[in-house]
This record gives sequence, C-alpha cells and structure tokens, in this order.
Amino acid sequence: MHWKILVVSAAALLANLSLAQNLSSYYNPVISGFHPDPTCTFVPELSNTFFCTFSSFITFPGLPIYASRDLIHWKLVSNALNRPEQLPALAFLARGSTSGIYAPTLRYRDGKFTLFNTLANQALYPTNYTRFDNFIMTTTDPYNSSEWSDPIHFDFPGIDSSPFWDDDGQTYLTGSFDGKTILQAPLDFETGEVLGPLVSVWNGTGLPSPEAPHIYKKDGWYYLLTAEGGTRERHRSNIARSRSLFGPYEGDPANPVLSAYLSESYFQAVGHSDIFQDAMGQYWAIALAVRAGYSYNFDPYNSIFPMGREAVLTPVQWPEGAWPTYMNVSGVMTGDFALPHGPVPELGEGGLSEADDVINFALGSSLPAHLFHWRLSIAKTYAISPSGHNNSLMLQSSVQNLTSFDADSTRGLGQTFVARRQTHTRFRFSVDVDWSGLTREQNEVGVTALQDQAQHFDISVAMLKTNGSGALAPHIRFRGISTMLYRLPERFKYVDEAFPLPEALIGKMVRLQVEAVNTTHYAFSAGLGGCDEETPMEIYGYTRDNYLVPYFSGVVVGPYATSNGKFGEGAFKSYVSRWRYTGLEQVRELPADQQPVYWDETLVVGVAGTL
Ligand SMILES: *[C@@H]1O[C@H](CO)[C@@H](O)[C@H](O)[C@H]1NC(C)=O
Ligand SMILES: *[C@@H]1O[C@H](CO)[C@@H](O)[C@H](O)[C@H]1NC(C)=O
Ligand SMILES: *[C@@H]1O[C@H](CO)[C@@H](O)[C@H](O)[C@H]1NC(C)=O
Ligand SMILES: *[C@@H]1O[C@H](CO)[C@@H](O)[C@H](O)[C@H]1NC(C)=O
Ligand SMILES: *[C@@H]1O[C@H](CO)[C@@H](O)[C@H](O)[C@H]1NC(C)=O
Ligand SMILES: *[C@@H]1O[C@H](CO)[C@@H](O)[C@H](O)[C@H]1NC(C)=O
Ligand SMILES: *[C@@H]1O[C@H](CO)[C@@H](O)[C@H](O)[C@H]1NC(C)=O
Ligand SMILES: *[C@@H]1O[C@H](CO)[C@@H](O)[C@H](O)[C@H]1NC(C)=O
Ligand SMILES: *[C@@H]1O[C@H](CO)[C@@H](O)[C@H](O)[C@H]1NC(C)=O
Repeated sequence: MHWKILVVSAAALLANLSLAQNLSSYYNPVISGFHPDPTCTFVPELSNTFFCTFSSFITFPGLPIYASRDLIHWKLVSNALNRPEQLPALAFLARGSTSGIYAPTLRYRDGKFTLFNTLANQALYPTNYTRFDNFIMTTTDPYNSSEWSDPIHFDFPGIDSSPFWDDDGQTYLTGSFDGKTILQAPLDFETGEVLGPLVSVWNGTGLPSPEAPHIYKKDGWYYLLTAEGGTRERHRSNIARSRSLFGPYEGDPANPVLSAYLSESYFQAVGHSDIFQDAMGQYWAIALAVRAGYSYNFDPYNSIFPMGREAVLTPVQWPEGAWPTYMNVSGVMTGDFALPHGPVPELGEGGLSEADDVINFALGSSLPAHLFHWRLSIAKTYAISPSGHNNSLMLQSSVQNLTSFDADSTRGLGQTFVARRQTHTRFRFSVDVDWSGLTREQNEVGVTALQDQAQHFDISVAMLKTNGSGALAPHIRFRGISTMLYRLPERFKYVDEAFPLPEALIGKMVRLQVEAVNTTHYAFSAGLGGCDEETPMEIYGYTRDNYLVPYFSGVVVGPYATSNGKFGEGAFKSYVSRWRYTGLEQVRELPADQQPVYWDETLVVGVAGTL
C-alpha cells in the first residue's frame, strides 16, 4: 500500500512548509476528474471571484461553470448548456465522446460573461467544415443556468474559438484551423458576423495542432498563447508575441512555456492553459494534465489515468515587458506565491467539485447540477419521486444500451443514463435499484463505470433465460466492453458473466456498486438494497483501469436502464434510490506498485462456486 505512504508524506510536507516563511502550497489537480481544456476569468466586480469552464463533449447539461475565491475550493454554479433548444444537434452527434462541446473560452467584460465555443460533429468528413458549429453564449448572472443565452452562431471553419477585445473596442475571433494554423478575424459579438478575412497569424513551433489560442494584451505587446503537439504526450503550452494584433508573431525562445513531455512527473500531457490575474496582481495559469506517469510518454493508451484530462493550477511570473514563466505542475505545488483568500461563493446551483453525493431524490427536488446525461435527455424518461415511488428516480428504459456507437442510430431517442464524474482516485459509488418492472428478456437496470460507448463495464439486474430451463429469471450480470479505437484488436476486452440472482435478493431492492479498490482496479458488486445503512456486498467482477482509457473524456459513473435493442422505447420502468458517491483517496504521485501494465493477464473474478 505504498500510495498511502506517499499521500501521508505529501500532507506532512504541507504542514512543515506552512512554518517556513512566505512559502505557500496547494494540491493539484485543483478540479479533478473529467475537466479538460480549462478556461478561467477573474471578476473583481463580483467579490473577487474566479470563474472557469471546460470541454464537456456529449454530456448534457454541459459547459459546467465553476466559481472560486481562493483557487482551491471550486463550486459548480451553473451549466451554460442546459436547454435542449440551445443546441438541438447534440442529440444526434456520432463518434461517441470525441464529438460535442470542444474547448471553450470564458471571459468577463463590462458586466457580461462571454463564452466562445464549438460544437464538433466528428462523423462528418474532415474537410467538411460544417462539422464545426461555432457560437457565443452570454450571461450577466453566472449563478443561474437559465440565464445563459441561446447561442449566437458564427461562421468559422475551425475549433477552439476565443474572443479578444482590443483597447479601441474592436472585437476579434481567434481560433484553430485544420490542425495547422491559428486564424484571426474581426467579429461582431452581438450578431456573429465575421467582419474581415480570416488571417493566419501563427503556425506554432512546428509540432502538430497549434490550437486553443488566447490573446492577451500587456505592456504594448499582443501575446498569443496556444496549445501544441496534439492532446497526448507531446501536449504543451507555447507563447508568441507581436506589437500588432495581426502579427507577425515571434515565438518565445523558451517555448514550450509549459510541458511535462518526457519528464518523470505523474502529471503528463500538461498544456492547454489560460492565464489570468488575481486581485493581488499575481498571475496564474489553469491547464490540463493527466495523472499517468512516465510510461505515458511511450504508450499513452496503455497507461492508467481513468479520470482523463483534469484541471491543474500553476503560478506564472510575468514581469513588465518580459515573457511569462510558469512553474512546472506537480501534485504538491510549493513556492513563493500567495494564494488569494475568500469564502466559497454563496450563490450557485451545485456543490464543491470534490464533494461526496448523498442524494435521496426527495419529492419536489430536481437532479443536482453535477449530474448529466449522454447527449440530450428525453424528459419523460426521468421523474423524481413519482406517485407511489417516494425518494427515488424513475428511469424509463431506452432501446439503446450504453454501447451505441453511433448516436445517429438513436435518431435522437436517447439513452437512459444519469451520471457524474469520477473525481477521486479511489471512490465508491452505489445506488439501490427497484427492478420489479423488469419482465422481459434483456430488460436491464444497472450501474456503469464508463469512459465512452466503446469502453464501459457494468453491473446490473437483468432478465435472462436460465440455463437449460429456458425460463426467464433475474440475474446479476457483469458485462463490459473495451474496444478502444487506438488499441490493437488483440488488446480488446469483452466480459459477459451472469449469475442467477441470489435467493436473498429475490423480490428485494438490489444495491449495485462500483468501487475503485486501488489505483489499478475497479470492483463491481451487488447486495441487498432498500436500507439506509451499509450492507454486505459481493464482488461479481473486476476491471483494470487501462480498459477504460480516456481519449477526450474521463470515467463517469451512474445508473442506466435499457431493453437492449428490444420492445421499443420505455419498455419498462425502474427506480433508483439512495445514490451515494464517496471519495476515498486522491493520489498525487505515481504509485510505485502501479507499473508496469501487462496486457496478457485476465482478471475476471466471480463469486466462488458460480464460475
Ligand atoms: C516575505 O514577503 C514579504 C512581503 O511580501 C517580503 O517583504 C519578505 O522579504 C519576504 N521574505 C522572504 C524570506 O522571502
Ligand atoms: C457537409 O455536411 C453537411 C451536413 O452538415 C452536408 O449537408 C453537406 O452536404 C456536406 N458537404 C460536403 C461537401 O460534403
Ligand atoms: C434563474 O433565472 C430564471 C430565468 O430568468 C428565473 O426565472 C429564476 O427565478 C432564476 N432563479 C433564481 C434562483 O434566481
Ligand atoms: C502558416 O502556414 C500556411 C501554410 O503553409 C501559410 O500559408 C501561412 O502563411 C502560415 N502562417 C504564418 C503566420 O506563417
Ligand atoms: C519543467 O519541466 C520541463 C519538462 O519536463 C523541464 O524541461 C524543465 O527543466 C522543468 N523546469 C523546472 C524549473 O523544473
Ligand atoms: C416522502 O418521503 C419523505 C421523507 O422520507 C416524507 O417526509 C414524505 O412524507 C413522503 N411523502 C410521501 C407522499 O409519501
Ligand atoms: C450458464 O452455464 C454456463 C456454463 O455452465 C455458465 O458459465 C453461465 O454463467 C451460465 N449462465 C447463466 C445465465 O446462469
Ligand atoms: C447492446 O445492445 C445491442 C442491441 O441493440 C446488443 O446487440 C449488444 O449485445 C448490447 N451490448 C452491450 C455490451 O451493452
Ligand atoms: C488492485 O486490486 C486488484 C484486485 O484485488 C489486484 O489484483 C491488484 O493487484 C491490485 N493492485 C494494486 C496495485 O494493489
């Protein structure tokens, strides 16, 4: 249990440092779990509050807005994307979780928040630029989802669009085109009209995919910050500057200004940053990173980092006239910087980013702001405490299960699925399910640990034909699939194990649980539900974290209900209750016993006597 020791020593280090003069410390990630492509803005007018948002791909609600006054405690305050009519196309996006909401840029100016973003449809041909729908959303109240505007669409054939206001009030769009160049043009933010030609302003330092551009004006220079090197191991932040907005831009000789490539750090792929200043004048950068360790540099899809790209914070020194310099990112950040102070924002709809869940679906409540669906949800599929089912969430089944590779085939019909992010290295998640409405073959209600359509492991109650007799009976099913596109087929993984429902659970609520038992494995278990207390759980299977390898997303957990391709939409109703998520541990240094990862071993452990 070496990782425990590492965590304890990090805590001891923090305690000692607080005694030393002027040294500050904090932990990374500051917002853990699936929170890629961060962007933040500081708002002195709203009590010195920082606001950030992230890529949310096909989650709905999406574009979660987090607020903080100390850069450490982050509260989910609204979801900018919260009404189906804002982006109806989200219902039909194919190519799993690599389509959807891409890297946003969030800015505040003159009393208004402006959010630039792209909805990407990766199923369209690469040169068909209609696959990128760029838009602007605004609000004057970041604490209320409903106050976020409908999108103003604008014509831009690329991604990662970002706004810039020059001193003369002129407004500009900067974005990434074709993985090759940064384009810029004047843009009317009110109408979405592009007011001039798109000009190539910088091509980066020669690596693929110059992207995520942000323009900052400082000391008479226009600074152009970009990400480069692709979103994996060579990912980084580069910066360039010019006396003129349209260039020519000169790269910082010290580029990359932020990178972990080929380093020994647990935090890899560090990049895609955004710089902002606090009330004391200190500059900070928010960036993305994966907790994957050194092996990530050589075999990224064989590494262990199920939470994907997470948000890390690092102080930036930016003296007048000089290039900015970043501190390298690690799990414990220590240095001569002063963190801002301030209480957690009082307003807003959600909880702290690392909060546990104790959700009982009380009558009259609504789904907490941090829960989401995969693509747009069908309203009638879900109901909180409907008549006769107090303190539960009704899930009406979908035809599609979680393995629907191409949402076009759902014709917008949706998948019955409610989830939250995995936000801790080790966690435990469970719900109790009332499965009495399951009457036909392949009716199934379960919980999943899901990376995307091609990589998820589920434990469920499913109606299956019992061996031999042909009679339908409830079973505990442990089923999973891992067919990651970027992996050799011989490394694909399928499991499908069914166990007759234990006698003690017949006619009873069943508790279904997924737990990250250590830094390498998830365990899937079931036990007697319907009680408030802990209940003995039996493990029906394990999966290794590297069967859940992130590409753009990160692991989410939650319940689903499906008839697996049969009987039409809404074939049955099921009810989940007592939703619990408990964070057990946050690991911030590479655990010594985690490597190497072997592919030949198979670990599917059944209940003794049933395998
Ligand atoms: C600590 O900070 C104060 C004020 O910022 C400064 O005057 C002092 O020199 C610093 N001390 C050390 C040891 O760096
Ligand atoms: C591009 O995709 C759109 C659908 O968004 C389609 O209508 C159009 O025909 C495609 N154009 C080309 C040139 O393939
Ligand atoms: C949020 O905004 C909506 C739409 O303007 C409004 O109806 C609602 O009362 C607001 N909610 C809160 C808590 O202020
Ligand atoms: C970037 O590369 C393209 C294609 O080679 C070229 O047309 C463009 O001028 C370059 N942009 C800059 C700013 O050098
Ligand atoms: C930061 O990390 C980079 C990449 O690993 C490395 O080249 C550089 O030396 C590090 N800088 C410091 C100050 O440790
Ligand atoms: C629902 O449950 C709550 C709390 O458990 C209880 O106070 C309330 O009376 C119940 N309502 C109904 C309609 O059963
Ligand atoms: C059916 O029997 C096979 C072999 O005995 C066993 O592996 C499987 O788990 C059984 N399936 C069910 C649904 O009981
Ligand atoms: C999902 O449903 C399809 C039918 O629509 C079925 O063929 C497939 O086996 C199911 N698989 C999984 C892993 O959910
Ligand atoms: C994690 O737990 C699994 C299942 O018990 C075990 O096989 C594996 O060796 C453990 N890994 C570590 C690093 O302890």
